[in-house]
Amino acid sequence: MKFGFSTAGESHGPAEVAIVHGVPAGLGLLAEDIDRDLARRQRGYGRGGRQKIEQDRVEFLGGVRHGYTLGSPVAMLVRNRDYANWEERMNPAPVERPPEKITLPRPGHADLAGMQKYAHDDLRNVLERSSARETTARVAAGAVARKLLGEFGITVHSAVYRIGGVAYPRELAVRDAAKADASEVRCPDPEITERMKAEIDAARYARDALGGEFVVVAEGCPPGLGSYVDWRDKLDARLAAAVMSINAIKGVDFGLGFGLAARRSSEVQDEILLEDGRLARASNRLGGLEGGMTNGEPVVISAAMKPISTIARALRTVDLSAMEPARAFRERADSCAVPAAAVIGEAMVAVVLAEAFLEKFGQDNMTDIRASYEAYLGRIGR
Ligand SMILES: Cc1cc2nc3c(=O)[nH]c(=O)nc-3n(C[C@H](O)[C@H](O)[C@H](O)COP(=O)(O)O)c2cc1C
Repeated sequence: MKFGFSTAGESHGPAEVAIVHGVPAGLGLLAEDIDRDLARRQRGYGRGGRQKIEQDRVEFLGGVRHGYTLGSPVAMLVRNRDYANWEERMNPAPVERPPEKITLPRPGHADLAGMQKYAHDDLRNVLERSSARETTARVAAGAVARKLLGEFGITVHSAVYRIGGVAYPRELAVRDAAKADASEVRCPDPEITERMKAEIDAARYARDALGGEFVVVAEGCPPGLGSYVDWRDKLDARLAAAVMSINAIKGVDFGLGFGLAARRSSEVQDEILLEDGRLARASNRLGGLEGGMTNGEPVVISAAMKPISTIARALRTVDLSAMEPARAFRERADSCAVPAAAVIGEAMVAVVLAEAFLEKFGQDNMTDIRASYEAYLGRIGR
């Protein structure tokens, strides 16, 4: 089976689960490889109280033995500590005193269409799965992909370059993405970090919330991941879909982004040079992708996140039981989750790159993949 993953789990259920399939045998994999990214996802100025309750830790249930993958699906479980407070409300078994149904759908959420589509009369049945808590399992899967890519010198970083009205130049965020972990908002600049935090505080004070923009940068990809031959194989499209699938992401672009539409061609293409007898590029304005394939330059993909929908100043809705105007249901909420979304963006990019990497170099075991990778680099002179 191709490299990829599925997740299961409800936000306040017993656990989040990820099953990663198509993982080659012989990849070194430890719980700490996963836990590191789970912790990075939980950080970030502007998160709500939930992150204080959860301290995510992975448990391997299959696919790993004595620190190495077996070639079988890697099954991972991350317990929801908060479940202890929700055992009655979220128990998989019938309970004696069922909780009151929630019938006040929140604008900007899956609530209303989800209730209509799945014939639910309690919006808890929708929000528990549509919540971004599910991205915990995605980050666990992404950490497996990151470990695989790391074996071939491919790194994936992210940085935040906008929170609400406070922006930082995108090209500097790309350049310094590897330093973003030091910032509470994942912005590599200490002064802008403080301004972004103040922006979040101001929104929270106004009982409102903020979105923003982040960039994911993958360095070290060989040329030729993805393909121009079939639309389903085009790597830019696959990366865009993966990042767009993250909750609240409303736009994705590459390299210079939509700004390239206003420029002349000579200011957009990346000229091909010979440097010491090797092929090189004069720039990386297109974000490392041409013709649906990596071209050997860093892959640069940016995303715009909408503001968090659940705000203290509750928005107008309709009570679906009484069919009367009302104010939206409020669940404990973040006031800004752009830094966390950037870490989730890294995970989704890593998964797509790992999938494309294994398509190109085989996927049974690390020894054969390494041999295939080195033969390819030798042939193209890299
Ligand atoms: C890391 C992260 C945390 C989020 N936290 C919240 C939150 O606390 N409250 C909220 O209303 N939305 C939150 N969201 C956004 C919602 O999950 C998202 O807007 C909702 O599921 C509807 O999906 P859509 O915006 O993609 O249409 C978060 C998103 C991410 C990526």
